[in-house]
Amino acid sequence: MTFKVGLLGLGTVGTGTAEILLSPAGRLPLLKEIEIYRVGVRSLDKSRTLQIDKTLLTTDLESIVNDPEVDIVVELLGGLEPARSLILKAIANGKHVVTANKAVIARFGPEIFTAANEKGVYVLLEAAVGGGIPVIQPLKQSLGANRITSVMGIVNGTTNYILTRMTTEGADFGEVLADAQKLGYAEADPTADVDGFDAADKIAILASLAFNGRIKLEEVYKEGIRNVSAADIAYADKLGFIIKLLAIAKREEGSTEESDRLQLRVHPTLLPKSHPLASVNGVYNAILVEGEPLGQVMFYGRGAGAGPTASAVVSDIMNIAAVLKTETVPIPHPLISCSHQHYCSVGPVEDVVSRFYTRFLTNDQAGVIGKLGTSFGNHGVSLESIVQIGMRDNLAEIVVVTHDVREGNFRAALDEIRTSGAVDSIPSILRVL
Ligand code: HSE
Repeated sequence: MTFKVGLLGLGTVGTGTAEILLSPAGRLPLLKEIEIYRVGVRSLDKSRTLQIDKTLLTTDLESIVNDPEVDIVVELLGGLEPARSLILKAIANGKHVVTANKAVIARFGPEIFTAANEKGVYVLLEAAVGGGIPVIQPLKQSLGANRITSVMGIVNGTTNYILTRMTTEGADFGEVLADAQKLGYAEADPTADVDGFDAADKIAILASLAFNGRIKLEEVYKEGIRNVSAADIAYADKLGFIIKLLAIAKREEGSTEESDRLQLRVHPTLLPKSHPLASVNGVYNAILVEGEPLGQVMFYGRGAGAGPTASAVVSDIMNIAAVLKTETVPIPHPLISCSHQHYCSVGPVEDVVSRFYTRFLTNDQAGVIGKLGTSFGNHGVSLESIVQIGMRDNLAEIVVVTHDVREGNFRAALDEIRTSGAVDSIPSILRVL
């Protein structure tokens, strides 16, 4: 039996995927039954290192999703269009789909999975989150016996690389970003990574699987890392923390099965140095899942790159091939299909309870700390620590860490502090795990 794959895209991940499929020796025997049947590319003239029969290549991507011979369409184009339309067309033509496209799935997942369920085909996306880290299938299958309470992770390698270098070199964001761009670790337009869009797409997908419901991407709160400074990293270090861009999906405390409410957020976070995610450095990703009765489990590995991402893509192709091999008329396999109908309820960020780190610049005069304390007290904000270590631009630098507080109350206290004139400015406000 042979399963025919139509590959859309022969970039980094497409090439990695083709390399595995073209040389299956030493891997699972099932791989030998998977054939690259057509490959859609942007240009036939591009020089490629991949040894592939050139007659398989075409620039007519539609002809692949319309080809009756193709069983599985593997979409590795990236971007929203034509990827979304090609995926939908493949589904309409009764083809199974494997994609690495988190942007399409996070935005159009409901449309895509509804179409797939109606047609009785699978859409698998292991490579969309965490590159080579197996986390999608584990959330669907291996952890299926658990009630998940939180999923949090470092899911963007570019920002983790930048923050790691800022930490080790004491450098500011702008200079590390410029160097990362020169070295190819950050895109020329770094917005999707550094402003948290990529991480928001990924946590929306993880949350949907962990909490068994659809997610509206716009309900994911997000802040990127542009405002993280070398000064904050240094203070965090002195206080026993490291700063990471975390993507967090959490069942709110007190949620019941009937009235679940989630927190979905992406933001730079001060992590205690002893936290399992604190030592995830450079371009590595990690996802920490917590559930009952399992407790914590962490997935760690390379979140991008040809080999790791292709490993995830090919595992999805094998999953589909295995189902096709054992069922002549595939029925939605409850452990690999996605059949949620309802949308998860997501609470506003003002209701999130967490600790906060804040850096104030102020004139060094009597009564300032008293005024800060009074404003915080007026809004029920309890302080864990307050330190004044140095001067910056002739102003005293005061760093405060709060106890757990509702974000809305904390913001109200800061508004009062701003309007009271007690401080010159508030350069940084960061959440603490
Ligand atoms: N741009 C992503 C990152 C890689 O930096 O992690 C692909 O998801």
